[in-house]
Amino acid sequence: MISDLWYKNAVIYCLSVESFMDSDGDGVGDFRGLTRRLDYLHGLGVTAVWLMPFQASPGRDDGYDVSDYYNVDPRYGTLGDFVEFTHAAKQRGMRVLIDLVVNHTSDQHPWFKSARSDPDSPYRDWYVWSKTKPKNADKGMVFPGVQTSTWTYDEAAKAYFFHRFYDFQPDLNTANPHVQAELLKIMGFWIQLGVCGFRMDAVPFVIAEKGASVPMTPKLDFDMLRTFREFLQWRKGDSVILAEANVTPDENVKYFGDDGDRMQMMFNFHVNQRLFYALASADTAPLAKALNETRPGYPTAQWGVFLRNHDELDLGRLEDDQRQAVFDAFGPDKSMQLYDRGIRRRLAPMLKADRRRLELAYSLMFTLPGTPVLRYGDEIAMGDDLKLPERNCARTPMQWSGEANGGFSKAKKTFLPAISGGGFGFETVNVAQQRRDPNSILNWMERVIRMRQELPEIGWGDFRVIPTRDKAVLALRYDWRNNAVVVLHNFDGEPRETAFDPGDKDDEPSVLINLLADDHSNPEADGRHRIVLEGYGYRWYRLGGLDYLLNRTEI
Ligand code: NOJ
Repeated sequence: MISDLWYKNAVIYCLSVESFMDSDGDGVGDFRGLTRRLDYLHGLGVTAVWLMPFQASPGRDDGYDVSDYYNVDPRYGTLGDFVEFTHAAKQRGMRVLIDLVVNHTSDQHPWFKSARSDPDSPYRDWYVWSKTKPKNADKGMVFPGVQTSTWTYDEAAKAYFFHRFYDFQPDLNTANPHVQAELLKIMGFWIQLGVCGFRMDAVPFVIAEKGASVPMTPKLDFDMLRTFREFLQWRKGDSVILAEANVTPDENVKYFGDDGDRMQMMFNFHVNQRLFYALASADTAPLAKALNETRPGYPTAQWGVFLRNHDELDLGRLEDDQRQAVFDAFGPDKSMQLYDRGIRRRLAPMLKADRRRLELAYSLMFTLPGTPVLRYGDEIAMGDDLKLPERNCARTPMQWSGEANGGFSKAKKTFLPAISGGGFGFETVNVAQQRRDPNSILNWMERVIRMRQELPEIGWGDFRVIPTRDKAVLALRYDWRNNAVVVLHNFDGEPRETAFDPGDKDDEPSVLINLLADDHSNPEADGRHRIVLEGYGYRWYRLGGLDYLLNRTEI
């Protein structure tokens, strides 16, 4: 079924209700606060908002431990407030995506409580049990160093239960048809309340075979993904699933499906890791290779392109020396690292708040193949608080102004303290201040988002890497409906002169029309362009034909 492919040219902004805006002064963000801030997001040019989990939860994994899928956690408001929010978003033409966390529940979920306390409970088989401790119980932890096992003994059940994540997140037995039916019901519920899709958490684990004798590389049931998609599209044709699956390129394609019949979107973790390696080393070869390896094979499939998210920057799939190079550049201190594989900092402190490097990184995020996913606070270059444990360091309150708690809340104490003092404190880094400053990163971001929206070539088109013979410079060309865009990025701190032919073999030489500044580029006699990029410089061009050259004498 062909639906409205709105996600192909969207700009997604991800936030957690908890940390965005507190309307009632209890120190926790809420839907009413978020709704009041929708005009801000709309003004920034965001077209879709992805909300992290907000359903009822004991909150031991920041909401990724759900205890009631059909309710808003009372700290954030009511279902009524939620619907007011989705309605207000719709009025502004903005879509809402929400997290769907169905690999596991909280151990406080009534299903698990019933399952553990009664072997005859109808919910017993909704979870994964073993009478004896499975041989691989100390393998496959997602949070090594913090989580010590994937099977935990439950006194009440007199059995071990399986948990891919923390021991308070028992895995659902997703192969059970009753569980699968319930998952569809959950999706159907939220779709009815105005959401346009889901960021599906931990997809490879949702579809994995689970059980005591399952090998370390379990079989995956990809048909389940097709069922999810079909259900959603029958209910609401324009709804999508954005899958969280940090897998290799040959696996990626299976998540999209051969006929584009599974997930519409996936986060491009493969590119994300090589992007950080390129930023650390000024060597773009692995990034260019990763882009070619992850070319979506189906027109409706789309990547979610991101820099940092609410988790650690996972470098687990880089080669050892590449990973070390990223650690050395962006997270040299043990306190900045996490789970033996990643960096837990926000982007701005990683890049030492160097404006040139921040612009380079975000310019890339907005011009790599796919749909950009911006994290709240990144538009003002917020920092992190490494005193906070694990991933909480990068989940602090949004910094709206220089007032107490960064204008996030009137409470004496907030759920996490707003970052105060130093180079990243709310006193200096905040929305109010940056709005007044025409040169702020916030105003820069608004401008590039606006331009990105005008470049459907990137969201919809085919791309190719243009050879530059300089590994520090990445040049990409996009083509869509007889329009073409060329983007250049210099990953080196020193200026680079780069010469390249952006055209196809049969093309006439083209002018490159700079979309963000005045310096257009004319081709030289051999049809090549010679462009000097300043250190960490970038350019966005649209290809103009000879017509443009003849009619516009000023360039
Ligand atoms: C992935 C989420 O992004 C992460 O924050 C969470 O802890 C795990 N899944 C478990 O739900």
